[in-house]
Amino acid sequence: MHDATSAGAGAASTNGRIYARAVDPEAFFPGGEPAEVIRAAMRRAATGNEQSLDDRIAEAAGWSSAEAARFQAVGDPADRAGRRLLIIKAALGWAPLGLASGAWLQWLTSPGTADDPLSLRILGLYAADVGAGHPGAARGSAYLGLLRHLRVSENAVPLARLPRDARIDDAAFGLAAVLLVMSRRPEDFRPELIGADLCLRAVGLPPPLALARPDVPADWAAIDYSSSRSGGPSPVEECHAVADALLRREPESAVRVHVGFAWTLTALRDQAGRLYDRLRASLDPGYDMATLMRLRAREGSVYHHQVLLEGRSLAAWLRDCRADPGPFLEVLARSKLVRPGRSGASPLVQGLVSERGPMFRIFSPDDLTVIGRWIDALPATPGLRPSGEGQKPAESPGPALLAALPALLAAREPAGRAPGNLREAYHLLMGRTGSPELRDWCLLYVRGWLARTRHGMNSGSGPLPGEWTNEGLRPWLQTQHDSHSAEFEENAEIPLPSREAVVDDAVQTALLTLIDGSWLQGFTDYELASSDVGHSLFATYWDELGNADVKLNHPLIYRQVLHEMEVDLPPTAAPEFPSWPGFRDASFELPVYWLCVGRFPRTFLPEVLGLNLAMELSGVGGAYRRAGQALRRYGFSTRFVDIHNTIDNVATGHSAWAADAVDTLMSGLPASSGPGGRAETWERVRAGYRSLNPPSGLLARRAARRARRTGSPPSTAKESVDA
Ligand SMILES: [Fe+2]
Ligand SMILES: [Fe+2]
Repeated sequence: MHDATSAGAGAASTNGRIYARAVDPEAFFPGGEPAEVIRAAMRRAATGNEQSLDDRIAEAAGWSSAEAARFQAVGDPADRAGRRLLIIKAALGWAPLGLASGAWLQWLTSPGTADDPLSLRILGLYAADVGAGHPGAARGSAYLGLLRHLRVSENAVPLARLPRDARIDDAAFGLAAVLLVMSRRPEDFRPELIGADLCLRAVGLPPPLALARPDVPADWAAIDYSSSRSGGPSPVEECHAVADALLRREPESAVRVHVGFAWTLTALRDQAGRLYDRLRASLDPGYDMATLMRLRAREGSVYHHQVLLEGRSLAAWLRDCRADPGPFLEVLARSKLVRPGRSGASPLVQGLVSERGPMFRIFSPDDLTVIGRWIDALPATPGLRPSGEGQKPAESPGPALLAALPALLAAREPAGRAPGNLREAYHLLMGRTGSPELRDWCLLYVRGWLARTRHGMNSGSGPLPGEWTNEGLRPWLQTQHDSHSAEFEENAEIPLPSREAVVDDAVQTALLTLIDGSWLQGFTDYELASSDVGHSLFATYWDELGNADVKLNHPLIYRQVLHEMEVDLPPTAAPEFPSWPGFRDASFELPVYWLCVGRFPRTFLPEVLGLNLAMELSGVGGAYRRAGQALRRYGFSTRFVDIHNTIDNVATGHSAWAADAVDTLMSGLPASSGPGGRAETWERVRAGYRSLNPPSGLLARRAARRARRTGSPPSTAKESVDA
């Protein structure tokens, strides 16, 4: 089954390849020309330039319900087995989009926009789509549930595997591939993505699934992109409001929002139309049989050299099937293997495939249904050619703009520049994208930082235990919390810092607090955000940013305290922010590490989990309370530290989630030693924990420099920053 699946997907899998690349949470896509090409092609395909957004929504909804009726009707003439095959085709045909439902919004917040009300609103929409805080609760997970119920989900996880499913034609990946590529260039495509999202929400339940809905139990409310989750506002209205807000702020983006909407609707019509044609064609059992033979011909032709059919080896017949199965199916229908009209009496689906037969397990149960239906539909009169055989499935390349894309995406971006110093790096890392040189620079910076972290580290360097056990980290967390509290009591006698010292500390720390959560930015990725390890990390990020409520947004709350201190900083993403004279150079070291490591949620997964635990636990019980005392003394608001002392709590808050995420990762690893085993991964988690506060001596810094020099091969890496 697996070999056949991969072989069939081989040749024309352009869209699938782009899709597989775009679902990688560390995907890098070049900017510049590819973005221009996508935008220009979208503009060409977009229609209805005079329409309002309301008109467009009505048009999309109208098309959706008419198309749904068409799909419903297509199943009417089919028998039970035939209907099941149609439903499978519809569900698989929409899977590239359905399994990634909402993923196009995944990078629309960045460290530089984490306090922007509009970005927060978009994050609010997205958080509902991924089912924030719960594993397997994304809309895509509901779609996966549908595929699982139909027993056709074997290539659906991870998403990068989906294009290897030969039952899904490459064109079905077109629209989703473009949207996912756009999602990885959020700074280039925000208006188009909002337009596309609004269109998909207006369409709601994918029309082909109208066929499946009456027959298959699934979480249909989650699969329907227009339905609200957990009783929130209608996502169509919410997305419409987001689009309106964007247009009020940037009237020049109007055309691009409309183009995103119109192009998406055109692509949806195209995709649904192709799928409908396939379903119609497969009402003829000969069509499905021809498709099956074409898929299996290559493997089959390796065997069967001795078996002769009408004077030719079966291997030779099967070889021809790859181009045209028609002649072979005629011969097969006349052979002793088949009793036309009577699958129950035909050796091909009885003795040959039975446990003792020579073709045991060659065909899956669904394949056998296809073959059986074909036999049953064969006319009993010899010589009458059954319909459908030899028809090639309708194939079309999908959205035209994809033709030029692979070459463009493969091209290397015109040489960029690695940041010359930490202030410049801080600014460049405010967005999600950047040049390949910036990416290489980030990797080297993290490797250097971790080398510095590991200087002098051994199994006894706390506070995390030297070994992880099945007991997990919760008991350890309680102990840490107790000791924070004890420390707070012990320090009660130590005089509080001066007002100047409190203000200075607040200012230097602003470089961190104004990008709160950015070490977790990689976990907004669609698959990670609802994964077993990642769901709580997404939920933490979502909390740091205030759950779409500006009043709860940690960076904004922090700005209020700064304002009370008469410190009014430029916007975090502004070029003048990092060059603000009050910041000391050294204060950029740790924030830049956060910004870099947050871009690699896969490469540095154990380290990020360790860092996250250190981060969330750092102030709870002790430091936040003491900081609160100092702020109160000088009449400043303590809201920032109060909110953290509660939200990061060790029972149900971020610290607890952070410990659970580590435990989830560790529990799934082999206890045996070696790469990828518990001991190695635990060492990396501990290093990540320690990386929040690494040694800063001469030797540690030398280790960092050495690691950056030898750590990785990128030619563009520059030794320009001293960590
Ligand atoms: Fe926070
Ligand atoms: Fe937190």
